[in-house]
Amino acid sequence: MRLSSSLIAAASLSLLSINSVHGYGILGHTLTGQVAQLFLTPETARQVKEILSPYYDGLLSKAAPWPDTIKGQAKYRWASIFHYVNTPGDNPPESCRFEYNYSGHDVVNGLFNMTSQLLQYKLTEPTTPEDKSTREDALRFFVHFMGDVHQPLHASGKERGGNNASAKWGRARTSLHRIWDGQLILKDIKDRFDNNPKAYLDNMVDMTKNVWQPEASNWTYCTPEKNQGDNPWSESTKLITKLCPMEWAREMNQLDCSFVWKDYDPMRDYSGEYFDGVTGEKNNYLVQKLIAMSGVRMAAILNDIYDPPVPRTRNPLKDQYRDEAIVDLPYNIRFVKQE
Ligand code: ADE
Ligand code: ZN
Ligand code: ZN
Repeated sequence: MRLSSSLIAAASLSLLSINSVHGYGILGHTLTGQVAQLFLTPETARQVKEILSPYYDGLLSKAAPWPDTIKGQAKYRWASIFHYVNTPGDNPPESCRFEYNYSGHDVVNGLFNMTSQLLQYKLTEPTTPEDKSTREDALRFFVHFMGDVHQPLHASGKERGGNNASAKWGRARTSLHRIWDGQLILKDIKDRFDNNPKAYLDNMVDMTKNVWQPEASNWTYCTPEKNQGDNPWSESTKLITKLCPMEWAREMNQLDCSFVWKDYDPMRDYSGEYFDGVTGEKNNYLVQKLIAMSGVRMAAILNDIYDPPVPRTRNPLKDQYRDEAIVDLPYNIRFVKQE
């Protein structure tokens, strides 16, 4: 399936087939980056622009799809299994089990790893071109994995995350995975927003400030202890208290039982009632909401790294950093924990 011409123009994409992408498709990743960009503080945006190659114009949305474009390169072969997380015993829709341990290489580990690198480079600025390039990679992977971890099928291993689950889409054959990577988003933009991704984006930001606001104010709060256990990254990322990829993956894994795999039938046309259910008002515009969550969380973490409310100054005695829990974000959303 080709993207329509207006989508291509608006998202600055060219001749891309959503059948050939992994993780959220290019469209999904672009949107998560666009949401995040709107919630960056000016100082964070400035530093992000400095880290990224000029090619990206300082835009997270342009950098976000990159990890899917380098999958064939030997240098980055290690990264391919970091786009998702599969936990043993998980079998949606009957039982969604997310019994996670940190021994593997997956998107939860990947997010901790990349955040840790970004923090290290914030404390000790890279001086060589090699280190600067490693830092840019870490940022591109971070942004991308933040998108992937919010795609529910990237948090369940059943049928290779639904890649092997055949499904009908109109008269075409596809897979449950491809449907969630891109086809739902694309059709939602087409049906409700006259094929205009900018209108979809504006609506998403508007919904975050209004309809989803009660829960949105909690999206960036989590219980870091729930990410502990045998977490080898807990020491190096403890300053970033909003970083909870294990909790997010568990949240997404639950959706595999409540929505994604429910009544799975390879003969069902997923562009009908199923599409209406997961994109419509009945379920609070779930597909759109996941993109918004990813972007808002991404921005909050980047703001925490690059523009903390109280500057992180080294305490020479304890070698620790001061931190504060509440961050004011642009767009008049104050992320205050609600009990
Ligand atoms: N390959 C194996 N499991 C996968 C998943 N959950 N998502 C994407 N690709 C996968
Ligand atoms: Zn991916
Ligand atoms: Zn995918």
